[in-house]
Amino acid sequence: MQKSILIIGACGQIGTELTLALRDKHGKENVIASDIREGSENLMDSGPFEVLDATDYDALEEIVAYYEISEVYLMAAMLSATAEKFPMRAWNLNMNSLFNVLNLGKEKKVDKIFWPSSIAVFGPNTPKEHTLQSTIMEPSTVYGISKQSGERWCEYYYHKFGVDVRSIRYPGLISWKTMPGGGTTDYAVEIYHKALSEGTYTCFLKEDTELPMMFMDDAIRATLQLMEVDKENVKVRASYNLAAMSFTPAQIAEQIKKHIKDFKISYKPDFRQAIADSWPSSIDDSKARTDWGWQARFDLENTTKEMLENLAP
Ligand SMILES: NC(=O)c1ccc[n+]([C@@H]2O[C@H](COP(=O)([O-])OP(=O)(O)OC[C@H]3O[C@@H](n4cnc5c(N)ncnc54)[C@H](O)[C@@H]3O)[C@@H](O)[C@H]2O)c1
Repeated sequence: MQKSILIIGACGQIGTELTLALRDKHGKENVIASDIREGSENLMDSGPFEVLDATDYDALEEIVAYYEISEVYLMAAMLSATAEKFPMRAWNLNMNSLFNVLNLGKEKKVDKIFWPSSIAVFGPNTPKEHTLQSTIMEPSTVYGISKQSGERWCEYYYHKFGVDVRSIRYPGLISWKTMPGGGTTDYAVEIYHKALSEGTYTCFLKEDTELPMMFMDDAIRATLQLMEVDKENVKVRASYNLAAMSFTPAQIAEQIKKHIKDFKISYKPDFRQAIADSWPSSIDDSKARTDWGWQARFDLENTTKEMLENLAP
């Protein structure tokens, strides 16, 4: 039987590319995009779209019944930098949207759920290098606290109610189709835009701040892979560590200079530096490799090539 998929928060940085990839795979009429706002032209023109507030359970339930949805991807959230400015709004959105979707699973109204976590679940007391799947987790940001709580609730709903919920701790994501939505790793996208348009970039993090990152194609591939793997192979029901590369602003600038010789970078750290300082610099993703065969394809060199080629006027 053909499954019917709902993406919530489909107009964001990940949702846009995820929707397009799922439509390619399952047919556009079987993949319903939804968001509180309309998205880019290529997303809106690619298949069905519904305006949906993820915190409104009744509206969500109605759409799930109408389209006979079997699988939900919940991508709506407030990201790390914005969440520090609006803590209660972030908590309400990030938690209530998750409860709504988990409760659909508990009521057997959907079969399978994807919900993303983040490297923000870790905190200043976590070992920074090759951070393990299970380690000290004492997040110090509003966003990180919501993601860690979310992970605990996912695991709880799986064990208590048999909800098939799957999750990945995404690192910072680099993409050219859609701009990022208010995270601490946004610099690694903005830098390519500015390199091409102005030849200079002022970075809001210090030059030696190393963070785990991933090119969007890898993130989408990992998401589809985890959702397709047999249930028995999904051994982690909180959220999987996932890694591809780690770099500093100085290192990304060096790569850009290989393509744009006169590119200049300067540094003006702001409040996002403290958030970045609380996160790991590299991630151990051996559990995802063992359980469902994860393997990244993009490093900093080919990510830079893809970004500059696709963003070039
Ligand atoms: N982008 C990254 O680097 C990154 C890294 C780690 C984890 N994540 C996680 O992945 C998920 C998606 O992130 P993203 O980067 O695409 O975020 P984004 O901010 O680009 O997109 C979020 C989307 O949710 C929508 N939205 C906001 N409130 C809503 C509501 N009440 N109802 C319905 N939709 C609503 C927004 O309009 C937006 O289109 C989030 O859970 C985020 O925490 C992202």
